[in-house]
Amino acid sequence: MSEAIHVPVLVEESISALNIREDGIYVDGTFGRGGHSAAILARLGVRGRLLALDQDPAAHADRALQDPRLELIHARFSTMTEALAARGITHVAGVLLDLGVSSPQLDEAGRGFSFMRDGPLDMRMDTTRGETAAEFLNRADESELREVIRTYGEERFAKQIAAAIVEARGREPFGRTRQLAEVVGRAVRTREPGQHPATRTFQALRIHLNRELEELEVTLPQAAALLEPGGRLAVISFHSLEDRIVKRFMREQSTADKLPRGVPVRAKDIPPAPLALVGKAVMATDEEVKRNPRARSAVLRVAEKS
Ligand SMILES: C[S@@+](CC[C@H](N)C(=O)[O-])C[C@H]1O[C@@H](n2cnc3c(N)ncnc32)[C@H](O)[C@@H]1O
Repeated sequence: MSEAIHVPVLVEESISALNIREDGIYVDGTFGRGGHSAAILARLGVRGRLLALDQDPAAHADRALQDPRLELIHARFSTMTEALAARGITHVAGVLLDLGVSSPQLDEAGRGFSFMRDGPLDMRMDTTRGETAAEFLNRADESELREVIRTYGEERFAKQIAAAIVEARGREPFGRTRQLAEVVGRAVRTREPGQHPATRTFQALRIHLNRELEELEVTLPQAAALLEPGGRLAVISFHSLEDRIVKRFMREQSTADKLPRGVPVRAKDIPPAPLALVGKAVMATDEEVKRNPRARSAVLRVAEKS
C-alpha cells in the first residue's frame, strides 16, 4: 500500500464553488485520497450526505477518512447515475470531478504510471479490469500506437516513437516502465525544457488505457442531469484535452436554444439553458503551485443548474 500522500489541488476554490448546502447530497466522482471529500464533509451538516466514487480499489483500501455521512463506491464515475439510483437517489446538490491520476498512483512504481521509477507497465487506474500498458504495447499495430501517442500525447514525434516501439518489441516484449522510457527517449530528438522525453507518451497511454476522455464525455451530461435546480458542477482538469471537453460542454449547456428568426415566440417562453456558467476558469495561485507543482496545469470550471 502507498505511503505517498496526495495534496489536493484548488480545494478552497472548488469547494466554495460548490456552494455546499448543509443538508445536501453531494457526489465526489474522484475520491483519490479524500482531500476534497474531507473539505466537503467539513461544510456538510449532520443530515448531509457524500457519495464518493473511485475506480481505483487502492483509493478505498488505504483510506483514513471515516465518516458516517460518507459512502465510498468502487466504480467509474461514468456509472454515477446507476450507482446513485441503486441508493434511491435521483437528484443531488453538487458534483465534483478532480480528474486524472493521484500522486500515490503516480509515485508508486508498481502502478506503472511513472517513467521516473522502474515498475511493471500497468497504468490501469482500475487494477481489477482492462488491458495493461504492456499488453497494449505488445499487441497494437504501428498505426494504432502512432494515433494514440499523437492524439492523447499531442506528441510531434508519434510516428518515430511508434516505429521504435514496434522495432524494440521485436527484440524483447515490453514489460517495464524504464524499458519504454528508454526506447521513447531515443526516438524523441528534441526535448522540451524541463520535461522528460517520455512524458507525452506516458500521458497518451494512460489516457487511452483508462478511456479518460470518453469517461469525461459521458459523465458530464449525467452529472448535469442529476443536479437539482441551483446545484453545482465543479470540474478540475489537468490538461488541454480534458479542459476542452469541459469548456465545450459547459458552454453548450449554458446557451439557450436559438429560435429561427421571425418565429412568433416571446423571450419568456424560450426554455432556459440547462446550466449557467459560474465565474470564469480558475487557475491555481503562484503560492499553490510553489507548494504543489501538480497544480501548475489545473483549471477549475463551474456551472450551476438552472
Ligand atoms: C486527481 S485524483 C483525485 C484526488 C482527490 N480529489 C483527493 O483530494 O485526494 C483522481 C482520482 O480519480 C480517480 N479516477 C480517475 N478517473 C476516474 C473514473 N473515470 N472513474 C472513477 N474514478 C476515476 C483516480 O483513480 C484517482 O484516484
